[in-house]
Amino acid sequence: MRVAHTTAEMRRQLKTLRGNNTIAFVPTMGCLHDGHISLIKEAKALADIVVVSIYVNPLQFGPNEDLETYPRPFERDAQMCEEAGVDFIFHPTSLYPKSGPKVTLKATKLSDCLCGSDRPGHFDGVVTVVNILFNIIRPDFAIFGEKDWQQLAIIRRMVNDLQIPIEIIGVNIVREADGLAMSSRNRYLSETDRQQALALSQALIAMQTLAAQGENNIETLKAAAQEILTAANITTQYLDVRNATSLKSKRKLNHLSSRAFIAAQVGSARLIDNMPLTYTPLEPTS
Ligand code: PAF
Repeated sequence: MRVAHTTAEMRRQLKTLRGNNTIAFVPTMGCLHDGHISLIKEAKALADIVVVSIYVNPLQFGPNEDLETYPRPFERDAQMCEEAGVDFIFHPTSLYPKSGPKVTLKATKLSDCLCGSDRPGHFDGVVTVVNILFNIIRPDFAIFGEKDWQQLAIIRRMVNDLQIPIEIIGVNIVREADGLAMSSRNRYLSETDRQQALALSQALIAMQTLAAQGENNIETLKAAAQEILTAANITTQYLDVRNATSLKSKRKLNHLSSRAFIAAQVGSARLIDNMPLTYTPLEPTS
């Protein structure tokens, strides 16, 4: 496995190796966990060469967010990548000019809800850095986790709208045995927070169960989830059900694919989670 610390070095290394090989790219901010390893596994199954980037992107953090304290255990991350069979790590010191970028991308429509409302500018920072990384690595495939569903939906839209010739692959959320979605920010949780945080996945499962039983009224689904969250003393930043692709709000579940989303501050960690909702219409009774 090789590590490139500058754009020039990364470009040079890939130039010699690219040839007829396909490249799968896994963008990360480091502090890797099993969720990232599942993305790397998917990348290895898809392509000849796997590149992982590790870069904590300042452009996607708000002024009061955890940019300074975001964990950066590079040696451990590199070891995990080596063990997972990664070919290249791209670990740049910075991707922007010293005076800051003067041209950036805007995520617009899909970013005005869910995490986009709570974190203004966040998705503009994400699409800008992902676009820069795509231009450097020029992969055939790029792999993203479904835990950041809104990010995935926005990136899919970005490659569509900007006609970027890269196939975007989404990979299922990896969960701890008790249901907590894996996240680099879980390490901020105390034992008590960790227990409290379980209510997020439990609330989503309650919505899934009701939907599968034929409940299609979203307010009813949300009320069931809210009951679980309130019992765990969790105040949500949002609890919502939206169209899985357009992220448009819904009042009733229908045949179009829907997803339930939650974000909440638990202790010092802002956690997000989501699950698909499959509505099973009840058979009419005769
Ligand atoms: O999902 C992440 O870790 C980041 O948002 C990404 C895609 C690496 C961009 O910085």
